[in-house]
Amino acid sequence: MSAVALGVPSVRGPVSGAPADGPLVDTFGRVATDLRVSLTDLCNLRCTYCMPAEGLDWLPAEQKLRVDELIRLLHIAVTRLGITSVRFTGGEPMVVPHLEDVVAATAALRPRPEITLTTNGIGLARRAEALKNAGLDRINVSLDTVDRQRFAAITRRDRLDAVLAGLRAAQAAGLSPVKVNAVLDPVIGLDDAVALLRFCLAHGYQLRIIEQMPLDAGHSWQREHTLSADAILAALRREFTLSPHPGPRGSAPAELWQVRSGAEAGAAVLGDVGIIASVSHAFCASCDRTRLTADGQVRNCLFARDETDLRALLRTGADDDALEAAWRAAMWAKAAGHGINDPGFVQPDRPMSAIGG
Ligand code: 5AD
Ligand code: SF4
Repeated sequence: MSAVALGVPSVRGPVSGAPADGPLVDTFGRVATDLRVSLTDLCNLRCTYCMPAEGLDWLPAEQKLRVDELIRLLHIAVTRLGITSVRFTGGEPMVVPHLEDVVAATAALRPRPEITLTTNGIGLARRAEALKNAGLDRINVSLDTVDRQRFAAITRRDRLDAVLAGLRAAQAAGLSPVKVNAVLDPVIGLDDAVALLRFCLAHGYQLRIIEQMPLDAGHSWQREHTLSADAILAALRREFTLSPHPGPRGSAPAELWQVRSGAEAGAAVLGDVGIIASVSHAFCASCDRTRLTADGQVRNCLFARDETDLRALLRTGADDDALEAAWRAAMWAKAAGHGINDPGFVQPDRPMSAIGG
């Protein structure tokens, strides 16, 4: 429930028990430094695991944050809450015409946060350079298969070539390392994964395979119909030599593997691959994220059942102290984990496309 709905007065700190300043912490001692901002719930693809063919009931324009409102919240996040990295997501963030302006305004904040983008890659061929010039540091492109027909079946759009062109443009623009995010089809996804890894190694992209989570609009996710990280790893190991990545993992969700040319000591490293076991090996204990939806709601977790309505505060004249306090209170209430593996798990009402990945 939002602070507004509770009629909580807009004073700093004491209402929730959250500290009034310092890092953005929760009751488990985790510190959020990574902000995920969904810029829109709209998308130009219709991935079967995400949306129905006919799309969804999109957010009305007046409910979405205006650019000035968003920039004000980003300013608070960076200057008061200790946010050091900002990732723009959707829906599909590149359907937002003012994306370059938002990136540029974010890059002007001090201390300047790292700025990244998660996109399906459509339109990137045309915009990669401008996004880089606006201040974008890195990019993640969602791509679940490199087979054109399979791509059309998964996304319900025949746009593989546009995505591949986008990847090339991102690399040429220096948005590196270019990462490829893949969610695998339960039936032939293991074949897709092998071909994707070959493709990514050949082009110097970093593949990250994500376990499918219960965030589909149709609420039809079933564990038995998803591939586990262990199954994915086993399939890759049949085709590639993998060794654990020596680097520190930190709060990065991906378990990283080096891909080598052979099993012998000293075999050349061809690249790396990450597997994100969000369901089977949850990494909630090291989560450093806070989220803002396109309609101005703070979510303390992808799977949160409650949101904090910063848009209402913004539009009723709240000052920066009140916005900061509401955001801190939202994070203070963060649960220990997503609970997907608990018997009583309830999927959030919003689908991934309206939260931001
Ligand atoms: N589980 C895991 N990842 C998902 N994505 C979309 N829906 C899901 C889901 N249910 C991924 C997209 C994209 C990123 C934003 O999230 O493929 O890479
Ligand atoms: Fe669009 Fe991403 Fe959902 Fe696919 S997964 S329909 S690209 S929002």
